[in-house]
Amino acid sequence: MDRLAVAVVGASGYTGAELLRLLVDHPRVTVAHVTAHRSAGQRLVELFPHLRGRPELEPLVCRAFDADEVAAAAKLAFLALPHGESVPAATALLERGLTVLDLSADFRLRDPDAYEAWYGPHPAKELLGRAVYGLPERHRRELAGARLVAVPGCYPTATILALAPLLDAGLIRADGIVVDAKSGVSGAGRSPTLATHFAEAGEGVRAYKVAEHRHTPEIEQELSLAARAEVTLTFTPHLLPMTRGILATCYALPADPSLPRAAYLDALRARYAGERFVAVVEQPPDTAHVRGGNRVHVGAWLDARAGRVIAMAAIDNLVKGAAGQALQAMNAALGFPEWTGLDAVGPFP
Ligand SMILES: NC(=O)c1ccc[n+]([C@@H]2O[C@H](COP(=O)([O-])OP(=O)(O)OC[C@H]3O[C@@H](n4cnc5c(N)ncnc54)[C@H](OP(=O)(O)O)[C@@H]3O)[C@@H](O)[C@H]2O)c1
Repeated sequence: MDRLAVAVVGASGYTGAELLRLLVDHPRVTVAHVTAHRSAGQRLVELFPHLRGRPELEPLVCRAFDADEVAAAAKLAFLALPHGESVPAATALLERGLTVLDLSADFRLRDPDAYEAWYGPHPAKELLGRAVYGLPERHRRELAGARLVAVPGCYPTATILALAPLLDAGLIRADGIVVDAKSGVSGAGRSPTLATHFAEAGEGVRAYKVAEHRHTPEIEQELSLAARAEVTLTFTPHLLPMTRGILATCYALPADPSLPRAAYLDALRARYAGERFVAVVEQPPDTAHVRGGNRVHVGAWLDARAGRVIAMAAIDNLVKGAAGQALQAMNAALGFPEWTGLDAVGPFP
């Protein structure tokens, strides 16, 4: 069977490396082209020695991005670029007939006004309406045949998968939602910064971008669809001294406070029946149980005394929160079984 030639644009970053780790074992694609920015000209396996030993990856050299070169080599491109850099690359690649899966935030918001409020003016507003939000568990049908996929953010993936089924089922109220989420430092990308410096991040826990994190409108967009009402929520992300993982702990008001915990668990189980990557768990989810894999562990609790539902989800930010989800969305877009190349169980401990 012919393999589809794909490109990874931004292959020298963390999500780029994770895409390559997964793509090299995907039976229906071949990595034909990789690009980088400051690291252009370097061999991929020199940038990422953990990718050594695979004959498909050994010869690859990161090129500076050139849309014609990418189009000559590949039919589909993953963009693993910083926010703002994907719009020109995606526009040029779509014009050249490629399918584009973008891991940045550039195409995730449908409403241009919401985009402008959180990020500034969008240089290609017309593309916002064309992009499919690449969360297969919520948008599988729209993904079939999609040419431009906005791969969801890591915090939104965990939060939406924990809360949306409870909103779908009318079990929690659309108002009063609070999301307290924790991430490992790889969520900030490979470029060193003071905030992710070992000496500053290694032994403390802190919140950041309180009440202003740009994943807020993305979460609100998808939860509003589930609630069929406008959702405005409080989202507080925290940085934890670990490399990978996101744990989202979400608090909501029950629509009917007399319902037992089982009602919320049953709603999650019903919504995720048959979903390969989502497990409904009764014990609190742990990032160590999903590390390195495309799995999501979700659960729900009732704090009857305080009148709150607590929904939680754990994911690996680089896999289900980025590269794995991008492959799952690609599989859905191209009509491959969604778990193709993604079914491996992650390492533990
Ligand atoms: N990290 C996560 O957990 C995560 C999860 C979900 C989504 N995302 C999103 O995925 C995207 C990539 O994230 P990442 O963590 O992989 O970032 P990263 O490690 O910082 O990598 C960024 C990549 O973009 C390239 N690049 C940097 N500046 C550029 C520019 N001006 N023009 C063109 N290319 C440029 C870099 O090349 P050089 O290194 O060669 O300069 C590198 O290949 C971001 O939009 C991020 O928000 C990340």
